[in-house]
Amino acid sequence: MPVITIASSKGGPGKTTIAMLLAGSLAGLGLKVVALDADPTQALSRWAANIYEGPAFEVVSEADETRLAHLIDEKAREADIVLVDTAGFGNRAAAVAMTSADLVLVPTLSGEADVTEAEKTIRLVEGLARAARRDIPARVVMNRLRRTQLARHAANEIANAGLPRLENGLSDLVAYGEITYSGRIPPGGPAAVEIAGLLAELREQGWLPEARNPRTAVAS
Ligand SMILES: Nc1ncnc2c1ncn2[C@@H]1O[C@H](COP(=O)(O)OP(=O)(O)OP(=O)(O)O)[C@@H](O)[C@H]1O
Ligand SMILES: [Mg+2]
Repeated sequence: MPVITIASSKGGPGKTTIAMLLAGSLAGLGLKVVALDADPTQALSRWAANIYEGPAFEVVSEADETRLAHLIDEKAREADIVLVDTAGFGNRAAAVAMTSADLVLVPTLSGEADVTEAEKTIRLVEGLARAARRDIPARVVMNRLRRTQLARHAANEIANAGLPRLENGLSDLVAYGEITYSGRIPPGGPAAVEIAGLLAELREQGWLPEARNPRTAVAS
C-alpha cells in the first residue's frame, strides 16, 4: 500500500503540518493510516498522542535509520497508507524514508532560499531513485502561500527549474497553525477546501487508496 514520505532539506516548510493534515483527513475517510515519525524531535508523535482529536490512526516514532526501512515495509503491508514525516535536515533516516517511498512530497515556502532547497531535495530523490534503479515520484507542495508577487515568482522559479509540483498548495492560514494545539483538522472554511483539493489531486494521480467510508468521502 502506498508510502508517502514528506521531506525537505530545509527546516520548517510544513512537513509535520502536512503529515498531520493527511493523517487526520485520511483516517476520517475510513482508511487505516500509519504515521511514522522519523524526526527525533517527535513533534508528530507527541501531537498524535497528546493533542490530536479525530478519527484514530497509528503513529510510530522511529528515527533510527537502521530500523526505519524495515518498519516502513512492515507497516505498508498492513496499512492502507503509510505517511512518513522526516527531520528538517539532511540525515540518513530521511534518505531511507525517501528511498522507501511511492511518493515524496517536498513542501516549500516561497522565498528564494526555500525554492533552492526544494530543488536540492528533488534532486536528491532523483539520485536515490537512480541508485535504487526504480522510479520514485516527487512533488513540490507550495505551502504558506499568500496572494503576493513572491508566491507567483516562486511558482515560476519552480517551473523554470523543471521541478514537478502539485497544483494544489496550502495558503498561510491561522487554521493550519491552530491544529498544533486544538488537535482538530479544520472541518470547514478555506483550509478544509484546500485540504480536499490536495487529497483529490493525490487520489487522481493514484497515490491514495479509495476511501473506505464513501459517505465521509462525499461530505469532504
Ligand atoms: N500553511 C500554513 N499556514 C500557517 N502556518 C503554518 C502553515 N504550515 C505550517 N505552519 C506553521 O509553521 C511552523 C512550521 O511548520 P512545521 O512544523 O509543519 O514544519 P516542518 O517542516 O515540520 O519543520 P521541521 O523541519 O522543524 O520539522 C509551525 O508552527 C506550523 O504551525
Ligand atoms: Mg517537522
